[in-house]
Amino acid sequence: MANENELVLNNGVTMPALGFGVFQSPPEETSAAVETALNVGYRHVDTAAAYNNERQVGEGIRRSGLRRDDVFIETKVWVSDYGHDETLRAFEKATRKLGVDRLDLLLLHQPATDRFDRTVAAYRGLETLLADGRVRAIGVSNFMPHHLADLLERTEVVPAVNQIELHPYFTQPDVRKTNAEHGILTQAWSPIGGITFYPGYGEGRRSILGDGTIGAVAAGHGKTAAQVMLRWQLQHGRSAIPKSTNPARIAENFGVFDFELTADEMSMIDALDRGVRNGPDPDVPRPAMFDRVIPED
Ligand code: A2P
Repeated sequence: MANENELVLNNGVTMPALGFGVFQSPPEETSAAVETALNVGYRHVDTAAAYNNERQVGEGIRRSGLRRDDVFIETKVWVSDYGHDETLRAFEKATRKLGVDRLDLLLLHQPATDRFDRTVAAYRGLETLLADGRVRAIGVSNFMPHHLADLLERTEVVPAVNQIELHPYFTQPDVRKTNAEHGILTQAWSPIGGITFYPGYGEGRRSILGDGTIGAVAAGHGKTAAQVMLRWQLQHGRSAIPKSTNPARIAENFGVFDFELTADEMSMIDALDRGVRNGPDPDVPRPAMFDRVIPED
């Protein structure tokens, strides 16, 4: 039987579909969370220079006792490090913190619309790292179709992955379509809709965890709302990276390989899309955020 937790990227590299997310994981809780995740079966961790916890992710991986090659490590370059040579240095910074010499997947964290030339130069840096064997795959995050079009026109290697906000209340069909047209894998951030209830992201959001449709589907399978959303992501052929620092929820979110949603259930969940973004709009530059310096150590 095919491994349900395995996706093949457009350059032939295999990646576990379900990864462990650490966005907003406080550094002091991150090593333990990563170690717990690897103990319950995750083999893929997604972090970012801007999350300020790469060092602790590396520590959690080492504490798990797993071999380096058994864990797929994904991280992201922050905007203040965009530019070709800057990106090469950002790679050194990230690998130093993670304690590894090679990355499995390295993404540009944002299209920086107020400095798109630097964004393109940064992507060329990723291409250099790929050619040199320092990273096994490269990609982007939060790229909308027009950002992808601009990038593809000016670079050689088609991104392997585009990581975007994606949960049942916001499914970005236009981005998914563009990704698919180019063989770019769609990876969901906030795959169980954490962004619909995280504080500080704007008014008018409704927490997806209490959604009646998802709750009914979950009850029918004896599963939780989070498990149903993750199963929905995987059955759509996406990668998903749920975040938790709570051991029970970390394990819960990996318990998605022992049930299957019907086509009707998939359609019911698809129909929940409200077409309204909860996280930041990638087209609105945020210079103060972009300029945040990523420490060397
Ligand atoms: P916690 O870390 O305390 O578990 P997302 O990855 O979609 O952004 O969601 C992350 C948010 O959802 C975090 O606030 C996390 O909090 C919470 N969370 C993670 N897993 C579950 C779960 N199985 N049930 C409910 N909340 C969860």
